[in-house]
Amino acid sequence: MSEAVLRTEAVSKSFGGLHAVKSVTLDFFTGQVDVVIGPNGAGKTTLINLLSGDLPPSSGRIAYRGQDITAMPPHRISQLGLGRSYQRTNIFPEFTCYRNVWLAAQSRMRSSMRFFRPASARKDVAARADRAIELAGLTKRAHDVAANVSHGEQRQLEVAMLLATEPEVLLLDEPLAGMGPEETENIIQLIHTLKATHCVVLIEHDMDAVFAVADQLTVMVNGEVLATGAPDQIRANETVREAYLGDETI
Ligand SMILES: Nc1ncnc2c1ncn2[C@@H]1O[C@H](COP(=O)(O)OP(=O)(O)OP(=O)(O)O)[C@@H](O)[C@H]1O
Ligand SMILES: [Mg+2]
Repeated sequence: MSEAVLRTEAVSKSFGGLHAVKSVTLDFFTGQVDVVIGPNGAGKTTLINLLSGDLPPSSGRIAYRGQDITAMPPHRISQLGLGRSYQRTNIFPEFTCYRNVWLAAQSRMRSSMRFFRPASARKDVAARADRAIELAGLTKRAHDVAANVSHGEQRQLEVAMLLATEPEVLLLDEPLAGMGPEETENIIQLIHTLKATHCVVLIEHDMDAVFAVADQLTVMVNGEVLATGAPDQIRANETVREAYLGDETI
């Protein structure tokens, strides 16, 4: 297999005496969707926070394309091409959907470009915003105020805002939560499309969605990786069935 785009080596995170993530070693690749599953409090969001730089690890190392990003602040990690969505919506509710996405597109632009090529740079930002809105399936809501669209559409808006920054790695923390069946299908199709050119790391509870998109599945329990493998291997794994999946989801 080709070289991992993103790699964690024995990464841990403690909050006081609580070991939220314990020595996690994982490789993530372009061309595949890596889904992280596990019960509430397993450490999934904390792992994403470590990858995005929102939290510094207590120990261990994180590398992106061979570069150590362990101690980097989140805005630099984002500029390198790692983009994340949040479990809770993170939008400006009083702005239109388009404005939210436009601001996200602009945030990725280097300040030198803003200064030297204002007209073409503006066009570039607008084109990126349009493309992201369309990809996320939100075109018909583009000019509605974000507070007035459905909860599911707000989640789609978050995906659009993430896409507008054109990341290579997409860290998606429960993007389907609160979405209806049609919106869910749209995002699943989008993930299928994006994975050819992106590295996708997805946290998800909806097992139908998980098995529909996962190329690799990682099960976390109590901060530890219980198992990593192809979805069929995970489905057949006795320890995983006992600890998490349960018979009804198989
Ligand atoms: N900033 C923080 N300060 C203290 N404890 C935290 C912090 N963030 C997370 N935790 C704790 O770390 C553990 C792992 O939390 P985390 O949010 O990573 O779980 P999760 O797998 O994402 O759960 P869920 O499925 O409910 O989203 C939990 O016990 C949580 O209470
Ligand atoms: Mg979480």
